[in-house]
Amino acid sequence: MRGLFVTATDTGVGKTVLSAALSAALIEAGESVRAHKPVVTGLDEQPPGAAICGSRSSASDGDARVAERQTWPADHELLGAITGAAPDEVAPQRYRAAAAPHLAAQLAGERIDADELLAAAADAEARASGAAQTLIVEGVGGLLTPLAERFTVRDLARSLGLPLLVAARPGLGTINHTLLTLQAARASGLVVRAVVLTPWPAQAGALELSNRDTITRLGDVEVALLRHIAGPDPGALARAGAGLPWRRWLE
Ligand SMILES: Nc1ncnc2c1ncn2[C@@H]1O[C@H](COP(=O)(O)OP(=O)(O)OP(=O)(O)O)[C@@H](O)[C@H]1O
Ligand SMILES: [Mg+2]
Repeated sequence: MRGLFVTATDTGVGKTVLSAALSAALIEAGESVRAHKPVVTGLDEQPPGAAICGSRSSASDGDARVAERQTWPADHELLGAITGAAPDEVAPQRYRAAAAPHLAAQLAGERIDADELLAAAADAEARASGAAQTLIVEGVGGLLTPLAERFTVRDLARSLGLPLLVAARPGLGTINHTLLTLQAARASGLVVRAVVLTPWPAQAGALELSNRDTITRLGDVEVALLRHIAGPDPGALARAGAGLPWRRWLE
């Protein structure tokens, strides 16, 4: 199966931005892409109708981080808009609470079933394969985030057998988080194509440059850089994604 599984060192690191940039770049290059997000949570936090073409919501509380997060639509909406699919087709299971999937489901009076997740992922794989599409799967949180009872994101990634990309922050604290993630991936036999530092600053300082080199060396891994993208505009995402060596990653 031609595809990539996008995980990260943590929640809110850049999996969706990276998945969307990759998808947009592939589509720009004439490929067809199917996106899959096993479970989406935190829909309560999303401003209704955050637009796909770069419009910004205003930050009444002055919190720049919240404002920046609100620039981006919910994961399944953005990935659906970029790949031309309905959001609910991208993410079959959706919960309002901003919590790990098992808890978000519990708060909604439901329970996530690992077999259902496996079946949905296999279905996405079969449909992508049948339509000669590249499959981009966005994980949830990090690799050991629980999706169901005794079933983690890593278990789902193993069932799909796709190579991993690990989105990681460029700044302080990223070395430990990234090396732990690489170890957890490789210990279970997953293949890591690259770590992607995101958003990579226009003027990288000594810390970011050192982190890039240290992760490459200690993690024995390719480290790629995804520059800052102003908002969910497909053209901007495609241009940034085109800077990543996705053709080689998909070989
Ligand atoms: N390359 C980038 N350009 C612009 N913003 C970025 C970039 N990478 C990360 N961000 C910022 O980080 C935030 C979180 O990114 P994103 O939503 O992709 O994370 P995530 O890992 O998918 O989170 P979740 O665990 O909720 O799925 C974005 O809203 C944005 O503010
Ligand atoms: Mg996401």
